[in-house]
Amino acid sequence: MIKINENYLKLPGSYLFSTIAKKVNEYGAAHPDKKIIRLGIGDVTRPLPKAVIEAMHKAVDEMADAATFRGYGPEQGYDFLRNAIAENDYKARGVDISPEEIFVSDGAKSDCGNIGDIFGVDNVVAVCDPVYPVYVDTNAMAGRAGDYDPKTETWTNLVYMPCLEENGFMPQLPERTPDIIYLCFPNNPSGAAIGYEELRKWVEYARANGAVILYDAAYEAYITENLPHSIFEIEGAKECAIEFRSFSKNAGFTGTRCGFTLIPKELEVNGVSVASLWNRRHTTKFNGVPYIVQRGAEAVYSPEGKAQVRELVDFYMNNARVIREGLAQAGFSVSGGVNSPYVWMKVPEGMTSWDFFDELLDRANVVGTPGSGFGPSGEGYFRLTGFGSAEATIEAIERIKNVFGK
Ligand code: MLT
Repeated sequence: MIKINENYLKLPGSYLFSTIAKKVNEYGAAHPDKKIIRLGIGDVTRPLPKAVIEAMHKAVDEMADAATFRGYGPEQGYDFLRNAIAENDYKARGVDISPEEIFVSDGAKSDCGNIGDIFGVDNVVAVCDPVYPVYVDTNAMAGRAGDYDPKTETWTNLVYMPCLEENGFMPQLPERTPDIIYLCFPNNPSGAAIGYEELRKWVEYARANGAVILYDAAYEAYITENLPHSIFEIEGAKECAIEFRSFSKNAGFTGTRCGFTLIPKELEVNGVSVASLWNRRHTTKFNGVPYIVQRGAEAVYSPEGKAQVRELVDFYMNNARVIREGLAQAGFSVSGGVNSPYVWMKVPEGMTSWDFFDELLDRANVVGTPGSGFGPSGEGYFRLTGFGSAEATIEAIERIKNVFGK
């Protein structure tokens, strides 16, 4: 008789951002007169850069002509895009990466989850706490997380690395040695960023313990200080790390879908090339990102594209500044928002982060993300994103000041 994957039954509730969307929709339906401002999910609001749109229009025309039409493309991505990535995201930063080490995909979220396919279920996985929920949920689905304990809101087999105010929201080397370590910098949700020295510590730790770091660099475009944009800027990382990148947050591809995963040829587990396993998975389960979308992504690296992406990032970073400064003026303790579009704030004393979510929605009609949704150490915190419109962001902060300001 048919059996389901029972690991799914262990998952508590729904996916964080689905839960929030449902709550907000219910509130909106019950209060149709309220103008709700959404600074919850990290979804961009500005249109795609002009260079991207022009490249995609041209690609659409090519698809309309038998002479230039394309059917299946290479699953790993077209050379034009892989070359542009290797050249601009890596060589330009002194990192020698071959285009063959780059696997173009429909986004970092899918890859962060799917990467588990090529690793055994008995690996010990370490995650930051709070953390982007995809890492935890996908490992739970695979049976790698053990059982969920509703009392502690943790999974029995995961190693949690608390990122708290007292450690600058940075993970510390764990006591129990993991096999797989998820790191995300600039961090989602806290907005904390990692320096060269600190990242070197992680690379050395992974190499000394035979672990693999899964490095999510989806927000690297938001770095404003002298910090590593890629883990491969650190010597030795090619032997112990995989990097995920996205066009969603820099170039507005959240709905267009394109990202990539970089697996260096040096990365081996028991003499097996990790890239070759990923290639096997990718070619079997994925037929590549649409040609039109890849042409759009390529345009991100043109001189016009680069300037337009810079403008987008600056726009969102200005929102993050407005949020950070406004909340600080209102007496909140805030961090993030300097190398990240996310601002991480402490909720008022005596409230849980879900209490604050409800109160903020009800009294200010502003949506954010409760810190506890990202893990138990996120309790007492709240995330706001800089991805809204400039006007809505200013208005949201004014409302928060009016309701909660000291
Ligand atoms: C978030 O709000 O954390 C992001 O939307 C996550 C994502 O990009 O999937």
